Amino acid sequence: MQYIEDNKARFLDELLEMLKIPSISADPAYKDDVLKTAHLVADYLKQSGADAVEVMPTDGHPIVYGEKILGEDLPTVLVYGHYDVQPPDPLDLWESPPFEPVIKKTKIHPDGAIFARGACDDKGQFFMHVKAFEAMLKNDALGCNVKFMIEGEEEVGSDHLGDFCKANQEKLACDVILISDTSIISNSTPSITTGLRGLSYVEVEVTGPNRDLHSGVYGGAVANPVNVLCDMIASLQDENHHITIPGFYDDVEVISTEERAEMNKAPFDLGQYKEDLAIGDIQGEEGFTTMERTSIRPTLDVNGIWGGYTGEGAKTVLPSKAFAKISMRLVPHQNSDKIAKLFADHFTRLAPDSVQVKVSFHHGGEPVVTPTDTPEYRAAHLAMQETFGKAPIPKREGGSIPIVALFEDVLGVKSVLMGFGLDSDALHSPNEHYGLFNFYKGIETIPYFFLFSTFFSSLINSSSDQFE
Ligand code: BES
Ligand code: ZN
Repeated sequence: MQYIEDNKARFLDELLEMLKIPSISADPAYKDDVLKTAHLVADYLKQSGADAVEVMPTDGHPIVYGEKILGEDLPTVLVYGHYDVQPPDPLDLWESPPFEPVIKKTKIHPDGAIFARGACDDKGQFFMHVKAFEAMLKNDALGCNVKFMIEGEEEVGSDHLGDFCKANQEKLACDVILISDTSIISNSTPSITTGLRGLSYVEVEVTGPNRDLHSGVYGGAVANPVNVLCDMIASLQDENHHITIPGFYDDVEVISTEERAEMNKAPFDLGQYKEDLAIGDIQGEEGFTTMERTSIRPTLDVNGIWGGYTGEGAKTVLPSKAFAKISMRLVPHQNSDKIAKLFADHFTRLAPDSVQVKVSFHHGGEPVVTPTDTPEYRAAHLAMQETFGKAPIPKREGGSIPIVALFEDVLGVKSVLMGFGLDSDALHSPNEHYGLFNFYKGIETIPYFFLFSTFFSSLINSSSDQFE
């Protein structure tokens, strides 16, 4: 579209403005910045031509809504995205400040990439929809209704979204949800995400003696909670990296050998993978490939562990307490509450009498598999084929987007996960970035999705008309 070509530089400038605001949902100190970002998103939606734009309060961070309703009888696409970002820590590992976006060339992004927290996850990705929408409106090329719902709590588990969806069912009514918050295999191998893992996130506290002790006076005679916690965590996986929590695998979907073989046909370069991460070797559950380990298999990982003295120099201390944050990625048909409970029961049982254990629950999210036999999936497939010149490969991914299962439950609507990021774009890590190629490719592809969706739905409507 010529309009996109003519306005490329402005689209990028607008995104850079948004990336300058630290909308860190996890940290209450940034509440005002999160709100400021919500208002900027609302302004952008209005400027791009959306109606009924609102910054809607929730018990947490607000949700930005906007719409363009062209006709009651037309299909409605709901675009979901999130304007909140992960905390940028560790700050000293950023090559440029996380909220001062810069464009730099990389080996994978020879045309340049935007380096900033949220560049790919998800400001850069949801913004492609706002700009594609603007381009379609300006070209009189929008053939269906569009609703935008851009939330501010995705990175902290979308806790208030369930209530919001229930309370606004009519407003959010739609035929399909379109989300760009996932990855493609590479810039030369497009893919559409057909599954996401769920998540159960817990925090544990192990308490030993009633105060920090001199490690010479008491060491050897009193249980050290940090040592105990390490032993307990180590025992959660066996030598084959199989999780040892009783019942953990009970509900795991068994995938046929044929389906697994099909999945493993997707291009994957182990050497490149290891080089990118600077690791000597990979590690994971015995009997599964890297692709399977990061998509169709559940996992357990310590996200943070602390206790005792971690300041400068050495302090001889036997700490009173130790803590860890542990996440479990889940696959169909595991349930996040059930797994959190299995974890808590097992972890409490594991503890020796010398310590006390407390397990608390953080957020959760359910795993999903999205259908590939719908007109909307077909529309995404054709759209990517058109702009990449290659058919996209269906691919399950390892990350989580809690809203997808929630939308299915509350609204009864399925999602299409048409993301444009790369796994190597350092999401949640220092130096997060998003390729300019990916940003513009997304803006170019999205209008085709709308075009094909509208076309398929008019076919369906006209064929059903014939039978009436
Ligand atoms: N965009 C990610 C999810 C993602 C990343 C899906 C890569 C597929 C490929 C999203 O913003 C995210 O990080 N979600 C959290 C959800 C959690 C806080 C409930 C996640 O996966 O850790
Ligand atoms: Zn994220």
